[in-house]
Amino acid sequence: MKNIPVMIPHIGKEEVEMMAKAVESGWVAQGPMVAEFEKGVSAHENKKFGVATTSCTTALHLALVALGVKEGQDVIVPSFTFVATPNSVMYTKAEPVFVDVDEKTYNMKVSSLEEKISKDYILKNGKLINKKTNNILTGVIAVNLFGLCADLERIKEITDKYNLFLLEDSACAFGAKINGKYEGSFGKMSCLSFHPRKSITTGEGGMVLTDDEELNNTLKKLRSHAASVSEVNRHLNKGYLLPEFNELGYNYRMTDIQAGMGLAQLLKFEDITEKRRKIASIYDEKLKKVEFLDVPYVPEGFYHTYQSYVCMLNYKKLGLSSIKEGKEFRNKLMGFLDDNKIATRVGTHATHMLGLYKEKYNLKEEDLMGAYACDSLSITLPLYYTLTEEDQDYIIDKILEGYKEIIGE
Ligand SMILES: Cc1ncc(COP(=O)(O)O)c(C=O)c1O
Repeated sequence: MKNIPVMIPHIGKEEVEMMAKAVESGWVAQGPMVAEFEKGVSAHENKKFGVATTSCTTALHLALVALGVKEGQDVIVPSFTFVATPNSVMYTKAEPVFVDVDEKTYNMKVSSLEEKISKDYILKNGKLINKKTNNILTGVIAVNLFGLCADLERIKEITDKYNLFLLEDSACAFGAKINGKYEGSFGKMSCLSFHPRKSITTGEGGMVLTDDEELNNTLKKLRSHAASVSEVNRHLNKGYLLPEFNELGYNYRMTDIQAGMGLAQLLKFEDITEKRRKIASIYDEKLKKVEFLDVPYVPEGFYHTYQSYVCMLNYKKLGLSSIKEGKEFRNKLMGFLDDNKIATRVGTHATHMLGLYKEKYNLKEEDLMGAYACDSLSITLPLYYTLTEEDQDYIIDKILEGYKEIIGE
């Protein structure tokens, strides 16, 4: 029986060589390779600055701290995202406020954002005040999920109108574009992930991108304990003197060993993306014979990098009457595929339904129906560099076989 995982990182001897180079140089903590990696990644996305971190989660936290987010403030997030998005807001003691997503793109539904602001906030002295808690709404995190940008132009119109910051969670979206403009071109900053489930990896790792020099300086300082002098500069100049620490900082530094791997991966990015897009287009075509699966939708002018290939189970086409019944079918199908050694995953969570948030804010799943539907009906199919067309045929045959078994044909 074939064994098909959901993702395999595309790593070879080039990565091993670059990591060995870092080790042999003696700079095993953060040093010149991190600086080179920051330059390479930010240049790729047409951004002036890159600040490498230990993960996208820490990148998001750092970005929010740099923006001055704190207790007594609200930050709007889409519900359908990895839990790290709202968690990063919680780290600052601000409150994440959930809005709904579009079931076709999986990204923030602009009408839900508008409705949330107009229903739950009142404008006082140029500030949006939460009618229930008196918190001030300071910003919006738009998540560019699975390799597809959110409707960032329209979201930016709204954040500009109310003088809110826009931060892009681009954990899954390195290289994604709207009409030729890269992710990160709309928000004040964007945060990337280099976890192995992403198209290029450093093991664990992340980066904040920005064009703002002041934010870049703040981010670089905060990620290194908010030291008055960076580690590199300290070693280059009077290393025997310790820096001063005048504010709360963090150790979110990426190492040169990780950056070595990242530099080798960066050289492969175009090839990896081309391959992922090709595999996605083969799925799009071949899945036409699986009527009950809706393939990922790409709006006009959007460039999808397919960090994940996420389909939606169309429960109506299966003759089922509710999302709940669709979820039962989806789970049985994923179980059948798992028994046949084909790994699939739910796209991601409706985070407003997770215990942590559901209880904290007394939320119900049907409060955000789009996120609930995506959580219940999404299914991520295997996609990695070495996945062959033959593997894709095999996966689709098994999906159809699973369907027949479930309906008892
Ligand atoms: C949308 C989103 N945001 C944030 C993260 C966190 O990334 P990391 O694992 O690098 O902390 C992820 C991880 O999958 C994600 O999908």
